[in-house]
Amino acid sequence: MELNRRAFCAGMAGVTGLALARPALAATNRLTARKASVQLAPEGYPATEVWSYDGTIPGPLIRAPQGGRVTRQLVNELDEPTSIHWHGIRIDNAMDGVAGLTQEPAAPGETFEYDFAVPDAGTYWYHAHKNSMEQVARGLSGVLIVGEPTPPDVDRDEVLMLDDWLLDPDTGQFAEPFNHPMMMSHGGRSGNLIGVNGQYAYTMQAETGERLRLRLINAANARIFGLKLEGMTGWTVALDGMPLDTPEAVTGEIVLAPAQRTDLIVDVTATDGLAALLMSLGGDTWEALVEITITGARAARDTVPSPLPANPNTALPDLSNARSFAMVMEGGAMAGMDSATYEGEQLDFRALIEKGQYWALSGQAGMSDTPFAALKRGEVARIKLTNRTVFPHAMHLHGMHFREVRADGSFGPMRDTILSIPNEPLEIAFTADNPGKWLFHCHMLAHAASGMTAWIDVA
Ligand code: C2O
Ligand code: CU
Repeated sequence: MELNRRAFCAGMAGVTGLALARPALAATNRLTARKASVQLAPEGYPATEVWSYDGTIPGPLIRAPQGGRVTRQLVNELDEPTSIHWHGIRIDNAMDGVAGLTQEPAAPGETFEYDFAVPDAGTYWYHAHKNSMEQVARGLSGVLIVGEPTPPDVDRDEVLMLDDWLLDPDTGQFAEPFNHPMMMSHGGRSGNLIGVNGQYAYTMQAETGERLRLRLINAANARIFGLKLEGMTGWTVALDGMPLDTPEAVTGEIVLAPAQRTDLIVDVTATDGLAALLMSLGGDTWEALVEITITGARAARDTVPSPLPANPNTALPDLSNARSFAMVMEGGAMAGMDSATYEGEQLDFRALIEKGQYWALSGQAGMSDTPFAALKRGEVARIKLTNRTVFPHAMHLHGMHFREVRADGSFGPMRDTILSIPNEPLEIAFTADNPGKWLFHCHMLAHAASGMTAWIDVA
């Protein structure tokens, strides 16, 4: 089970030239959750039985214009209930897709109608939100792009959905169980095979001088990607879908935690051979995640890209009347915790583990009947996150975007998912302007399933 990408790939030297595939554009108003057989592993390995939307990994690419609507009927052809969460969309609460909180899941053979407005342009994604630790790992995710009325000046717009899969190299099938105590109590389920847009060894072609928009999405259950550009100069133009006021030149490593998105605009500078999106394998070791073959040359733009048009609703939260909350993250291997409340009972760590709960947020393991914060519509909340575990956590708020409040009082960019590092204080703030019940949870999905899930009520 401790295979890394290299071990998996050992013996596969010489695998080149895999076909270029783009996520298919959804043709119908249906999204069918169903089993399918997909070649995730390199050629020569068996195909993998996945759970998919419409039979592809990732699911169909959904595009909508800013201010438009997305209408999809979820058809559940799986053997277990499911639902779809539209990650990062400031959505009507009833459409948020959280089984057990905002809707009943669609039972096998049943359907659920999603119909919602998309107020913000940007790069989003959708994924299962019932038993998500397993359903997302098995493939139930896809890309949702909300287009700007005037797209930026680029030659091409490319989606790169990063994911990893934990497969048994002999059978090509997902390693089970998905709720392995080791994964729950440590960093979560990381794959031994890393791919892009559902493919191992994903490749692209480009010309020197070409300007590309790269939409990076981390759909992995637990892996934090460290990325670098090779043979390209780039600027970050949006994070989690939301445009930056000013494009920021990419100088070092791009960190992409689970569920986060980074939109880059890059100029291809390599003149021969390859450009690449590199990923960190730890230390100073980098490997090409996406190889880009140079096929020609054209005149480069020698301008810094303009910022993407701002989305509505980017006002800074007014902290003068903010309510403060403290969220203490504890538990997990190596740190543990004394006790926490689970389903209304105070349990010690041993008893919690017996219930499959390894983590707690401010003394609460798993969902509580009462919200972590009960906010009035329009109120501003600031939440201090204290990470007393030895693991990083990608904390995601549904339905609203927040900003980091930095130590000097300045605000970070708008985000929906932020990485909390052990022992590094982190504070976020947001205006509670979207009524409903909104999850706030770790997007390392094994952590979410084993304690790190809270919710916020906006009434
Ligand atoms: Cu992307 Cu509650 O999740
Ligand atoms: Cu976590």
